[in-house]
Amino acid sequence: MARLRSSLLIGLLAGLALSTTTLSKHQDDKESTQLHIGDSQICNEFECYPKVFEASSLWQEIKPGQHLPGGLDVRMNLETGVREAKLCDDEHNAIPNIPVAIPESDSIPETSMHEFTQDFDVIRKLIDSDPESNLESVSAKLEDLMEFAHDYKHGYDIVAHEFDLLKRISCDEQMPLALRDISTIMITSCTRNNPRVVEYINKWYPDFIDQVYQRIGTLITNENRSDPHIKLLKRYLSLLDELTTESYEFTQFELDALDKAWQIPDKQIRIEVLELISKLFTVPGSDDSELRKRGLTDPVPFAQMWANNIQELIQDDEIDELHTRKFFDSLYAIKQDFSDVKIEASFLSWLSRQVDERKKQLDSGIKERDLEQDSFDKKMIESRHLVFGNPMAHKIKNWNDEL
Ligand SMILES: *[C@@H]1O[C@H](CO)[C@@H](O)[C@H](O)[C@H]1NC(C)=O
Repeated sequence: MARLRSSLLIGLLAGLALSTTTLSKHQDDKESTQLHIGDSQICNEFECYPKVFEASSLWQEIKPGQHLPGGLDVRMNLETGVREAKLCDDEHNAIPNIPVAIPESDSIPETSMHEFTQDFDVIRKLIDSDPESNLESVSAKLEDLMEFAHDYKHGYDIVAHEFDLLKRISCDEQMPLALRDISTIMITSCTRNNPRVVEYINKWYPDFIDQVYQRIGTLITNENRSDPHIKLLKRYLSLLDELTTESYEFTQFELDALDKAWQIPDKQIRIEVLELISKLFTVPGSDDSELRKRGLTDPVPFAQMWANNIQELIQDDEIDELHTRKFFDSLYAIKQDFSDVKIEASFLSWLSRQVDERKKQLDSGIKERDLEQDSFDKKMIESRHLVFGNPMAHKIKNWNDEL
């Protein structure tokens, strides 16, 4: 009788959504408590609770023996050591989240079924038997699946379940180049505009980026610069662009690989390379000491070399506005962090033409205002004297304007 009453009381308390920490402490002490599992309830010595976890928008403890419905966020509460779950709070709540830290194992979440399991099983079999002679059918299968890779949910599913296979096809140097190419496109499509995929790959496959650089190294040192080789090199670089976060720590090998890739006379490759290098320089405080910390032995010539490369490419008429901004920001950061870096006369005259055009745009008032564009234009206009020229000239100029 007393037992019944206490379980009722606890049930009430839990129903009032009071902190469950006291309850869980209680349970931890009684780890060996026998569970009585009924049709819809599980009971222990102290309480009964539903057999199926009832999720809400708040984190709640997952109790022993409870079944989890799909599509929940699951986490390990690092303070209490208790596993908790709640409803996903974004609109894509049909995607099961990857548990951040599940106590039982720290390995990659188990692979289970997903919408394309069968398709990928077919690909896996063909690859395992003979990739060379099955090239056509594997390519066709991957092409068919490509449209789903762009989708937020499906893209995530594909990577969460099939990344091992895609990585293998993409990085195995024995695979036909055409297959490596299409598999790399698929991974890139999954990552594009899908931060969860990027996070997933970087978390569970922390060596993947370096592995891609190793393959780039092989392609670069290969004398054969046939179209398929160059194409794959570009694919790898654009995949790296998606995966590289601002805090990424480049190794010396990776920086050398980018330098060598730059030397291949191909504009697309150069654009991709500068995109990656821009991430290195635009992080706040990427100055001499910071670059030394990142393992660079001699940052000044390194900064000068990339400053030269940026100045060269940014003057190319085919560079679009978004890249112009990115590369300019990068050069701006280099010049601020390394004041000794030399700036070419040709760049200064390009800058002066740009400044004139952008001033006209700003003053015209014809086009609808784009705040980002405006603030970039202002930054560029000011930089002409403040960063790339004589700061006194800027003062004198402004003083004149005020008269
Ligand atoms: C270069 O690679 C292409 C594509 O793999 C191949 O068809 C060609 O025979 C290779 N050329 C040489 C000289 O090895």
